[in-house]
Amino acid sequence: MSFFREAIEQMEGYRPGEQPQDGSFIKLNTNENPYPPSPAVITAIEQSARQELVRYPDPLATAFRMRAADLLGVDPDWILCGNGSDDVLTIATRALVESGEMLRFPYPSYVLYRTLAELQGARCQELPFQPDWSLPAAFGQAEDDLRLVFLPNPNSPTGTVVDRQSILALAESLPCPLLVDEAYVDFAESNCLDLVARNEKIMVTRTLSKSYALAGLRFGFLVAQPQLIEHLVKVKDSYNCDALSIAAATAAIGDQQWLEENRARVLATRERMSDRLEKAGFNVAPSQANFVWCTHQEEPLQPVYEHLKSNHVLVRYIHYPDWGEGLRISVGTDPQVDACLDLLEARVRS
Ligand SMILES: Cc1ncc(COP(=O)(O)O)c(C=O)c1O
Repeated sequence: MSFFREAIEQMEGYRPGEQPQDGSFIKLNTNENPYPPSPAVITAIEQSARQELVRYPDPLATAFRMRAADLLGVDPDWILCGNGSDDVLTIATRALVESGEMLRFPYPSYVLYRTLAELQGARCQELPFQPDWSLPAAFGQAEDDLRLVFLPNPNSPTGTVVDRQSILALAESLPCPLLVDEAYVDFAESNCLDLVARNEKIMVTRTLSKSYALAGLRFGFLVAQPQLIEHLVKVKDSYNCDALSIAAATAAIGDQQWLEENRARVLATRERMSDRLEKAGFNVAPSQANFVWCTHQEEPLQPVYEHLKSNHVLVRYIHYPDWGEGLRISVGTDPQVDACLDLLEARVRS
């Protein structure tokens, strides 16, 4: 006898990337930022810890929304905050998709989307990217029961982007909201934020986990027109962001100079990394994120991943059925990346 809903029994459950806790690995497997966050974040956490722990936090994270609104040029009531952007992705799915209805997203992309669909007992339609990393025409087609479309942009695991014009055209042809997941957008050349005002179907999500070096904090947000936010808010946990994370996230986005410097360092390392990988015989997808996706024509990559791991360098090996395998390597510090590339070069040469 089972106590669980059938959808829960049937699903596998999301498996996050490996998070070894012993600190002995060079960790290039989950796209964290390799540098410490802005010092303003630490000051804000200390102050919040002294003053704010006894009371419940602001349910709507107003301080963050006000500052983000200023920065992004929208009104605060266009912003919904969450416990990481995974939380706002969950809220959107729960609010928009019923059991048996359909969610669409590209293949390969962020594996959590499938888990969110399965939690709802919803159906998934995963449409493969074209060889030039654009989306197939079917991605914009209306279909019965289609309730939500996810588009990670830049995409994970590839780091590739779909251009703004295509995204606007998609929103115009789709019958349902198009959630553009911009987890990595601070490392990209453009973003879709202003498109939210041009089409109410477009929602954009962001996270502080990557570009602000705050993966351990858990803070993300969604931008949409207020008539959508009004309903999404009903689905969230009452206090989904804690006082420390609201204070820290508000301080983090207040330090744009830190962001610019960090971005410049990460992009310089990414370019160097891509060049070296290409010279070593890898095919490297054109990345606008803080990681690169590389494949190899002759070398099977699982043993390469194992070899790196046995040398305490952790990258992400992924095999996508009907699509292929590759290594996703996060941009670390220069010494971390050099250690990884030295091992890789020696391995594929031998
Ligand atoms: C495409 C994409 N979206 C969202 C997330 C989740 O980010 P967060 O840490 O804000 O939950 C990730 C994390 O790896 C991601 O790759």
